[in-house]
Amino acid sequence: MPRLSVLMIRTALIYLGIGFTLGGLVLFNKGIPIGADIPRLMLPHGDILLFGWVMQLIMGTAFWIMPRFPMPPKYGRVWLAQAAFLLLNTGIIASVIGQWSILTGLTFVGRVLMLSAVLCFAAHIMPRVRPYPET
Ligand code: HEM
Repeated sequence: MPRLSVLMIRTALIYLGIGFTLGGLVLFNKGIPIGADIPRLMLPHGDILLFGWVMQLIMGTAFWIMPRFPMPPKYGRVWLAQAAFLLLNTGIIASVIGQWSILTGLTFVGRVLMLSAVLCFAAHIMPRVRPYPET
């Protein structure tokens, strides 16, 4: 597995742990109230699991598994996938900080960064989506 996939999938697993914990807290709080702020964890829970876990796991797996090119660079324009990794994670962190603090504008910045990550990853992966083996 390429290094970038390892990095993406390990990072995704960290988000899985955090996201499930936040979801568990929100759920627990519905039965036994433990804090007035707990329901506010729902938004970070959604972002962390949808983008940090699900999307990042898909990106990491796709980077590894999609057909490679017969000639170097085998993985194509890797810098685009690396940029997607940085943009996605900066975006998630910015978005979550925005959801939890008075810096609400950060959520918008985070969403723009996440969208940029999607565009970068799509630009990277598109040329690799093709029949395999080459005919
Ligand atoms: C891949 C797994 C999961 C994903 C993608 C996911 C995603 C979401 C999303 C998008 C929301 C709505 C947030 C919002 O309205 O902004 C939500 C709500 C919620 N999630 Fe999850 N979730 C996942 C797993 C879990 C788990 C494992 C738990 C419990 C341990 C959990 C507990 C909750 C609770 C309690 C709510 C609030 C429901 C409500 O009050 O309407 N989620 N989740």
